[in-house]
Amino acid sequence: MRAVIATEPGGPEVLTVAELPDPEAGPGEVVLDVAAAGLNRADLLQRMGFYPPPPGASDVMGMECSGTVAAVGPDVEGWSVGDRACALLAGGGYATKVAVPAGQLMPIPDGVDLVTAAALPEVACTVWSNVFMVAGLQPGEAFLVHGGAGGIGTMAIQLASELGAKVFTTGGTAEKLAACAALGADVTINYRDEDFVEVIREVTDGRGVDVILDNMGAKYLGRNVDTLATEGRLVIIGMQGGTRAELDINALLRKRGAIIATTLRSRPTAEKSAICASVVEHVWPLVAEGLVQPIVHGTMPLAEARAAHALMESGDHMGKILLTT
Ligand SMILES: NC(=O)c1ccc[n+]([C@@H]2O[C@H](COP(=O)([O-])OP(=O)(O)OC[C@H]3O[C@@H](n4cnc5c(N)ncnc54)[C@H](OP(=O)(O)O)[C@@H]3O)[C@@H](O)[C@H]2O)c1
Repeated sequence: MRAVIATEPGGPEVLTVAELPDPEAGPGEVVLDVAAAGLNRADLLQRMGFYPPPPGASDVMGMECSGTVAAVGPDVEGWSVGDRACALLAGGGYATKVAVPAGQLMPIPDGVDLVTAAALPEVACTVWSNVFMVAGLQPGEAFLVHGGAGGIGTMAIQLASELGAKVFTTGGTAEKLAACAALGADVTINYRDEDFVEVIREVTDGRGVDVILDNMGAKYLGRNVDTLATEGRLVIIGMQGGTRAELDINALLRKRGAIIATTLRSRPTAEKSAICASVVEHVWPLVAEGLVQPIVHGTMPLAEARAAHALMESGDHMGKILLTT
């Protein structure tokens, strides 16, 4: 198979296409002929040598893909050669073939084409598991997602809005914030020249928001806690603003607040499979009805992985970047 590998830790220039042995479908696994792979920020960290794949996972980058079933291993039920699917991966997506635990394979929602389906697994599984399964966002509650124009943000805005929450989001340009509003965000805040704590305090009459999905980590920790409503839940999924910060425990106690931090990639296959099943049950019908849409910034061939990484690093994209085989 062809796969994108990093020859050494470094910038996008270390990425190159190599010939590697085809993966085989082990017990409980399926091999996909990959149509497209989605880029994730974790791929940038992996390329730089800061985020090795979990034990047993492929060294090849790529945490999600879409494709056609090419082989079915022992003990797999419900999938046949030729079926089209998308998949949540621990690695290996930037390749023409990948082996996937069958539980992490999902059917493609009606109305979504094979390539575009690669934009869905990471954002749908991350947002659904964190915002709904873990933080339990309820209709009528207030929800803040930072970085609303990113891959995660565009899915979070649509899902939360569709399921009846009031949605606040932050973003870096007026153009991106306008796009967030079009996706369903009720209140948009430019993080470059506005203080989200003040804006939310004003809009909510001092109440704050019930759930926050945070990509910034350390940089926003204190301000996120300040923005939580009583019994609010802060879910941290990213470290774009660093990993170490001071926390005023008293501020959290007074709100009876919760801080949760998770990563999808390192979870055991059984947990990821349960999340995929829940996404297929709850999110796919909304996608099939066109109420929640995959937002794709653009697609590039696998051979242009360097340019795709450079684009994600520039932050000029909105939604997902895909690599096609
Ligand atoms: N823990 C997990 O399981 C998990 C899974 C998937 C993703 N993630 C994390 O989730 C985050 C988002 O991923 P993604 O795929 O959506 O990446 P992405 O498409 O590159 O989006 C990154 C977002 O960060 C925003 N941002 C940059 N600086 C900001 C600031 N100062 N304040 C608020 N937002 C800011 C950007 O906003 P502008 O473009 O408007 O500047 C952009 O929307 C990443 O940190 C990623 O590692 C975690």
